[in-house]
Amino acid sequence: MALAGDSVTRSDSWTTLEGLAESVGRTHIRDLFVEDAGRAQELQFTAAGVLADFSRQRLDETVLASLIELAQERGLEQARSAMFDGVHINNTEDRAVLHTALRLPREAQLVVDGQDIVTDVHAVLDRMAVLASEVRDGRWLGFTGKPIKHVVNIGIGGSDLGPVMAYEALRHYSARGLDFHFVSNVDGTDVAEVLHKIDPLETLFIVASKTFSTIETMMNADTARKALLAAVPGGDAAAVARHFVAVSTSASRVADFGIDVNNMFGFWDWVGGRYSMDSAIGLSTMIALGPDNFRQLLDGFHAMDEHFRTTPLESNVPALMGLIGFWNRSLLNIPTVAVLPYDQYLKRFPAYLQQMIMESNGKSVTRDGQPVGTDTGAIYWGEPGTNGQHSFYQLLHQGTSFIACDVLVAGKSLNPIGEHHDVLVSNALAQATVLAFGRSVDQLQAAGVPEHLISHKEMPGNRPTTVLFVEEVDPFTLGALVALYEHMTFVQGIVWGINSFDQWGVELGKEMAVNITPYLTNSADTSSFDAATAQAIDWYRANKA
Ligand code: F6P
Repeated sequence: MALAGDSVTRSDSWTTLEGLAESVGRTHIRDLFVEDAGRAQELQFTAAGVLADFSRQRLDETVLASLIELAQERGLEQARSAMFDGVHINNTEDRAVLHTALRLPREAQLVVDGQDIVTDVHAVLDRMAVLASEVRDGRWLGFTGKPIKHVVNIGIGGSDLGPVMAYEALRHYSARGLDFHFVSNVDGTDVAEVLHKIDPLETLFIVASKTFSTIETMMNADTARKALLAAVPGGDAAAVARHFVAVSTSASRVADFGIDVNNMFGFWDWVGGRYSMDSAIGLSTMIALGPDNFRQLLDGFHAMDEHFRTTPLESNVPALMGLIGFWNRSLLNIPTVAVLPYDQYLKRFPAYLQQMIMESNGKSVTRDGQPVGTDTGAIYWGEPGTNGQHSFYQLLHQGTSFIACDVLVAGKSLNPIGEHHDVLVSNALAQATVLAFGRSVDQLQAAGVPEHLISHKEMPGNRPTTVLFVEEVDPFTLGALVALYEHMTFVQGIVWGINSFDQWGVELGKEMAVNITPYLTNSADTSSFDAATAQAIDWYRANKA
């Protein structure tokens, strides 16, 4: 089947939604609660242990019904089946999009393009489990016979952000006797600071790169290898086999780099980099958590996949969340979403979502190469509560731009200490309330606030806010949360008619950097560059050490 590739603005429901944006979309959230006293219950939905409360969004049942109609017009249900079945929905790269296959249980069956996907996925998982157990149990010995104390993941983008986020989120479950480090930036400071903290002879370096050609990762891996060889008596290159493993889709490039392909963990071109934290890219996560907890993580992903795959759109949490995000972005012109986890373990979750969502849906043309006709991909960012409250929330509450918010709340703390968690959660609930309801002039006057301070203290509210409740941040829940945002992103891409699975926009800068690099070290004529770049190269030549 062909996925929608024309502009969503041509759909019949678009016109209806434009009308609703002028009526319901302009109604204050507090008035929506007055109009429908039952909305707090009606707009709560559950999926895979995640309770999503959409009642503080600027919409009502009519808007939701029209959004669902639009999704159907755009072929969301067919597109969803196409993704799960392995149709090549990534049209510009002619690839299937099958991250959902990474978390299928062993007994499932899926053959795509002649590949027995489940068998292959589980073969890699089994090999990962062997390595993870050996490292965790101290049975994997370094070249000089020392057990591993440090694991360093070298990767960038999807080969870094997922592993970092998962390590931080699930630190409570991680092997405390091992230290985990993550090197991503080509800035030498990143690798240097890690090398200061470790003994290479007690370190396992994981070089994680889907393509195994990303310059940042290759350079950092090379620096790490030099550090290892400098520490090995006689600089014996055989040490690399005991200290370097690779995660990649390219065996030939891994071999060219000098890593034994027996120490390579593969994945496939149908796994996008930003959708790969549950593939072999999660090797550091599995070493940290152990194979059983990693399976729990995959089970959480799978539970959300099954909910998304089988639940009617009316109560399908990722579908509703995607459609609500679409409504906010394209109909209410809200350009950005702040992700506000009230759980310290989720501190890197906003950064992880930035790549997943913005690299996926930051597109201006449809699958057919036509202008989208409306705004797409919202800007995602955020910080954990309560730190954000003492930083940027002022602008959230009283700034001139509307910012939508996702507030994440865990029922249980993994570190229950005194009243900490009650105070944390009361802050989350207070912020969700204030963002949506605000405080009116009438309320301020009734409270006796002096007239000259009324406008300063007025809180307009009406900031669309979703609250996501989970029992606690454990491996299963993290998997479910990540899959929720993955499918939300997919839904939006389908409705906009864009390809959420390519990333051509990151290529030109990479090409330019490769062109510029030699000019920074030679003194060749720079007149082939534009004047600003030529001037900048001259500045660097004059100022470099
Ligand atoms: O530059 C963007 C990108 O291609 C991401 O999509 C990807 O996650 C990242 O680079 C790293 O790529 P690789 O895993 O191939 O090193």
